[in-house]
Amino acid sequence: MPADQTTANWNDRSTQWVKAAPEGTSKNDAPNQTLIAFAGIRQGDHVLDMASGTGEPAISIALLVGPEGSVTATDATAAMLEAAEKRAANLGLKNISFLHCPMEEIDFEENRFDAATCRFGMMHARDPLAGLRRTHHALKPGGRAAFMVHGAAELNNLWSTVHTVVAEYFGHDNAASFARHYKYSLEGEPSAVFTEAGFTDVEETLTVTEMRYPAGEAFWRGPLTRGFSEDVAALDAAGSAELERILTDAFAVFLDGEGYVLQSSNRTTRGTK
Ligand SMILES: C[S@@+](CC[C@H](N)C(=O)[O-])C[C@H]1O[C@@H](n2cnc3c(N)ncnc32)[C@H](O)[C@@H]1O
Repeated sequence: MPADQTTANWNDRSTQWVKAAPEGTSKNDAPNQTLIAFAGIRQGDHVLDMASGTGEPAISIALLVGPEGSVTATDATAAMLEAAEKRAANLGLKNISFLHCPMEEIDFEENRFDAATCRFGMMHARDPLAGLRRTHHALKPGGRAAFMVHGAAELNNLWSTVHTVVAEYFGHDNAASFARHYKYSLEGEPSAVFTEAGFTDVEETLTVTEMRYPAGEAFWRGPLTRGFSEDVAALDAAGSAELERILTDAFAVFLDGEGYVLQSSNRTTRGTK
């Protein structure tokens, strides 16, 4: 696989993602179920999942489509896909296969799949239009693709706050990571790519979820270690304590009564072949 097909350093990033991956079913299945519903996936369907990473939403789809159906889970990073494969083996899934390939190079025959999905991969691909064209080709007539990206930065205040505060602490410019994370987050942006790739009946839905955490919980650890693992590992005890204090202060604006109230949002786009 040519290195330039993965836009970010996913080989390096995969270490933290693999550590955080569940052993079996998803830890937070709600976004997967949104995608599955929007793609209209049913028992017995054959589904192509792009940029599956450690198995989201591929594992959830395999559980839904059952033994008559199948999932082909694909990703540009081998280590991510290996974690997905382990999860599938732990769950005894026999209806899922894995393909290490960037979405720009997926080369299935025409009319093979009933549906296609992609969760948080469109913004990381070098050429998502090429990926969507290949998806369109591989779908059966009437087949649906549904791709999920993040909603706008202000509707994802956990990720946005961590990446603002921590980047500043370590003296990093976070413009590129914000641009990547929130690429296609505005209304109409992903739809335009779907339409250009040949999809019809293109529509988007925005999901906003309230997240509640008890006061005292360091709920920012996930995005902190996934986004800044090397910087955090290099901190001494005093530095770690200082960073925790800075994060606690930054999140104080979200305190409401018993705990923190934050928002997470996703934009899902679907189109029909
Ligand atoms: C944010 S992760 C999302 C993984 C998973 N779908 C999830 O929601 O947890 C992004 C994934 O996109 C993959 N990726 C990056 N560029 C890609 C490309 N050109 N084609 C396919 N996958 C790609 C990375 O390897 C990584 O696994």
